[in-house]
Amino acid sequence: MPLTGPKEMFARAYKEGYAVGAFNVNNMEIVQGIVAAGAEEQSPLILQVSAGARKYAGQPYIVKLIEAALQESDLPIVLHLDHGGDFQICKDCIDGGFTSVMFDGSHLPYEENIAITRQVVEYARPRGVWVEAELGRLAGVEDEVSAEKSIYTDPEQAADFVRRSGCDSLAVAIGTSHGAYKFTGEAKLDFARLEKIGRLLPGFPLVLHGASSVPQEFVAMANQHGGKVGGAKGVPEDLLRKAAGMAVCKINIDTDIRLAMTAHIRKFFTEKPAEFDPRGYLGPARQAVKDMVKHKIRNVLGCSGKA
Ligand code: G3H
Ligand code: 13P
Ligand code: ZN
Repeated sequence: MPLTGPKEMFARAYKEGYAVGAFNVNNMEIVQGIVAAGAEEQSPLILQVSAGARKYAGQPYIVKLIEAALQESDLPIVLHLDHGGDFQICKDCIDGGFTSVMFDGSHLPYEENIAITRQVVEYARPRGVWVEAELGRLAGVEDEVSAEKSIYTDPEQAADFVRRSGCDSLAVAIGTSHGAYKFTGEAKLDFARLEKIGRLLPGFPLVLHGASSVPQEFVAMANQHGGKVGGAKGVPEDLLRKAAGMAVCKINIDTDIRLAMTAHIRKFFTEKPAEFDPRGYLGPARQAVKDMVKHKIRNVLGCSGKA
């Protein structure tokens, strides 16, 4: 099965009130864990690659891993660039076979964000590639993009941005943030704002970044085995489900993959200190990714059986 684009995937998700998971991939075990979960749940998948992942693994390796996954499965799979920082990286990924790219100009002045998003759209559209843009700023650290505190997306500006930039989907800031420390007090998302953005952009797919839920079982497991991730807190699953039932068609998850793998690797090392075969600890880490992704697909995103 060849790679697919997000168009039909998002149209159906929008109509039927669920979201597709966009999972960050950095190595073989992560790709295998996600794709195995997708296959058991018969779910569409978005595998996304950050600039950091391209640097770590090398684009050709990541693309080949995903080609291998496609050979093994008949699932609809999108290959997406996560947080492209300039036109060049978007172009390189489009030329390299990605079916979707994000240009993240959220840190730029408004007009500049529109202009570069437009430039990416003009390159991507004739080549059949989808373009995600971002307006508003998430708190926390993004890849090569950092924002000390979030600036929520203005609904009227979002509608103007989409019209003038021509982007295909838009990442919005409504209270999520990247990483494992999303909330110090009560976890809240601005659903009134999300509803208004959705109303001003009927039928248009929105994207939620920073949407890991930071499962406390992984935090506890990591900390029991020498980790120091105290106070980590994510977006509660019921809030993600609610967003998926609105105009949010793509939900980004990276931190939960990191936590699942690290917690299980830490546990492995305390229980089997004499082991040194990497397959010994990467195997359980891969299984943990699979189990976590299955849970998300089935109980949070609502995209089981939508392949
Ligand atoms: O939003 C950022 C993603 O979690 C990717 O993180 O740049 O460390 O690969 P990374
Ligand atoms: P998390 O850090 O919440 O997993 O967010 C990932 C993300 O938004 C990738 O673009
Ligand atoms: Zn992100």
